[in-house]
This record gives sequence, C-alpha cells and structure tokens, in this order.
Amino acid sequence: MGQRSTEPPISWLMHAALSRPKLISLAAGFTDSASLPVAEARAALNQVLRSPKTGQPALQYGSTAGDPVLRKLTAEYLRKLDLGGTSCRRPQNQGQRHAVSPEIYSPERLLITSGSQQLLYMTTEALCDEGDIVLVEDPTYFVYLGILQSRGLRARTVRLERDGLDLAHLESVLQSLKRTGELRRVKLFYLVSYFQNPTGITTSFEKKCGLLKLLKKFERAVGHPIYLLEDAAYRELSFSAGIKGRDALPRVQVDRQVGTTVSPPSALAVPGAAERVIYAGTFSKPFATGVRVGYGVLPEPVFSAVKHIKGNHDFGTSNLLQHLVARALASGIYGRHVARLQKRYAHKARVMKRAIEKHFPPAVEWWEPEGGLYFWARLPRNVPTGVKSKVFQTALKNDVLYVPGEICYADDPARRKPNHEMRISFGNASEKDIREGIKRLGKVLKKFV
Ligand SMILES: Cc1ncc(COP(=O)(O)O)c(C=O)c1O
Repeated sequence: MGQRSTEPPISWLMHAALSRPKLISLAAGFTDSASLPVAEARAALNQVLRSPKTGQPALQYGSTAGDPVLRKLTAEYLRKLDLGGTSCRRPQNQGQRHAVSPEIYSPERLLITSGSQQLLYMTTEALCDEGDIVLVEDPTYFVYLGILQSRGLRARTVRLERDGLDLAHLESVLQSLKRTGELRRVKLFYLVSYFQNPTGITTSFEKKCGLLKLLKKFERAVGHPIYLLEDAAYRELSFSAGIKGRDALPRVQVDRQVGTTVSPPSALAVPGAAERVIYAGTFSKPFATGVRVGYGVLPEPVFSAVKHIKGNHDFGTSNLLQHLVARALASGIYGRHVARLQKRYAHKARVMKRAIEKHFPPAVEWWEPEGGLYFWARLPRNVPTGVKSKVFQTALKNDVLYVPGEICYADDPARRKPNHEMRISFGNASEKDIREGIKRLGKVLKKFV
C-alpha cells in the first residue's frame, strides 16, 4: 500500500500557494480566510472552558463515535436541513412527497469524524477490497481518487449533466459491468452531491431517487449491497438565489442552527435510503476549515465496521474541537455565521463571474455555480491544461494557479481522460486577487485559445 500511495496533487498545489508570495492561487479549496469566525470561535471556546465542570470533559479523551451532545445536535441539524425546520425555506415538492423515517436522523447512526475526509477514507476502507470497483462522477473530487489509488481500487465513471448525474449513462455503465462479469466487484457509488467539487454541479433530488433505484436494481444481480456514499461537503455554501447578487437574495429567515437553505434534500430523504445511503457531512467549509470536524450517517453494519476502524485510527475525534462545534451549534453562532458566509461567497462568485466575462476569450466555456467555491472552465479540446501543458506553465510563470481538470478525472478504460478543463476557486483569494488572477489567466488563455 505504501508503494502504491503517491503524493496527492493537493499537497503540491497547497505548497505552491503557500510558498510563493506573489502567486495568486485560484487552485486550493481553501475557504475565505477573512471571514473565518475568530471572535465567534473564541466566544464558543470561552463558554466551553468557563468552568472546570464544562472544561474538563472537553479536555479529556472522548468516545470513538463522538461527543453525545454534538451527535444529537448534528442529527437534529441534518434533519432540519433535509426536511425543513419551522423557519427553513424548502423548495416545494422536494423530499416531501413521502414520509421519511425519523430514525434515519437518529444520533445512534451518526459518527463524528476528523473532517469528512476521514469518513470517506474509512468507509471506502471498510467496504472495498483490493481490485473492487467504485463508481464516481466524471469528473470528481481528486482527493477521493487518491484514496482509490492508494487502496488498489478501480473507478468507473459516470457522466454529469447540468442537473447532476446522467442516469442513462449510469445504467449503461452498470449493464456493461454486468455483461463483463465485473458487477460483483462494484461496492459503492461516490457522489459529491452539492455544488460539486470541481464542476459546481448539484445533483437534483429526483436524480438521487433515480440513482438509488438503479443501484438497488443492479445489486439484486450480485447479491450484495451497493452503497451510495453521498459527500455533501459544500451543501451549506449555497448562494440561495443564485449568483445574481445580494439584491436578488430572497428574504429568507435565518434559522438559528442551519442558517438559510434552499438546496435539495440529501439522499437520506430518498425512499429506501435507510439501509443504503451513507452521508458524509462537515463543519469545515461552513464554519472553520482549521477545526476539521466532520460526521457521517451510516446504516448498520457499515456503522459498526467504520466505528471499529476509527477505533484503530484515533479512537475519537479531538474532544475539545467537538465541544467547540457543539457550543457554536447550540448557541446560534454557527447558523448566523453560515448565513453571512452564503452572502459572502455569493458576492465573491459574482466578482469572479464579472472578471471572467471581461477577460476570458469567448471560445472558453465556463459554468456558473449556485454555491460552493468553484467555477469550471472548458477550453477547446485541442488546448491542454494539464500540469505539463503550455497553458499551465505560462500561467505559473505569470503567477496564477488553477487546478488542471485532468487530475479530477479517474482512470477509466472506457474513455480517454479529458485534459482541456480547469477548476478556478474564489474561496480564499481576496476580491482584488480574484480580479487580478482572472485578468492574468485571461491573458494566458488568449495566447493559446
Ligand atoms: C468534495 C469534498 N469532500 C470532502 C472534503 C474534506 O473536507 P473536510 O475533511 O475538511 O471535512 C473536501 C475538502 O476540500 C471536499 O472538497
């Protein structure tokens, strides 16, 4: 395994961003440093450490599954996100046509992890043996592809449409795996469902229903479960009313715990989700990336298996940080912060959109996100954007960095890996740097496109 595990591209991209002061990085998935909640985190920590009674349990080891208070608050939070609290806006007809079993959101099914990354790793470790197949979106979160490579797993890719997964393509991929006898090696579908990293695409609730139905249909042919691992890392970072700006934001009430939300329910709200959906959530992106507290909702027997693995990894996520997040959730600090963040990212995305409109040549196609941290741009097919390409190297010389699209594509014998795209992030760059970075990138693109 050590020999198979190569340095992930993320290390290099993060290092490049941190080590060259003049470089404008539109690459790393860092969040907006200026809006990290310093005063809010201090207030929450002060509450936790105000007395030995509250402080000592936080400074002690906790349990493997996580702090019971945080598990309860997170389960409640997730239920509200999916089904709507009293003051949450919920798109009509989404997830409300059938009764969702309340047990799905039971704290007993919820595991607190060290970032959602740990959950992705442990779940994959628990479910897949070497040589097994994981279905992924094409393209997908490149750090997850590193997990597959390191664990000796194969990927099969499913195309994306503007409203998410191409279900007809998924069916044909599953059919062809059945024909070749490889369906029995398929254990998992990994889906980044909200404002996807890297494309910004959100998979609609209807498509999640269709996806689970297809997985269930094909698992009957192999006699073992095919799980859906839903990664909702960017779920909370919705611009609510699209990118059109603050003026166009609807007047939604801010819920104390969940902020504002208009994104579709998770796959947990799909009929029949209870035994097959594994949900990965995080407080990194909506609160503080440095805190790295994530969570998973898992059905048995996966819950127990992953909990045992976590016992071996670290027998529990940092207890102090869990207490911090629990305080933030319970006191309303978290919900208010999310609401501010949503406006902030909507604004930064608008700044990037305007700069792209001004500086990118018309032959470059780009996708406008409605949440998350990324724009996805597509050059003509004959203009490569990979690390060794002229575009990338010239961009680097001009002190601007993007994520080459090719690293977001899994190896899949069924198609050639596209290499003419790029992910551009407005997460961490200041507004000034977004404008300047896009200007520099536009200049490079005009040279080659
Ligand atoms: C799609 C996706 N999933 C999961 C993660 C992991 O986040 P964390 O471990 O901080 O929760 C990230 C981080 O960038 C991500 O982009």
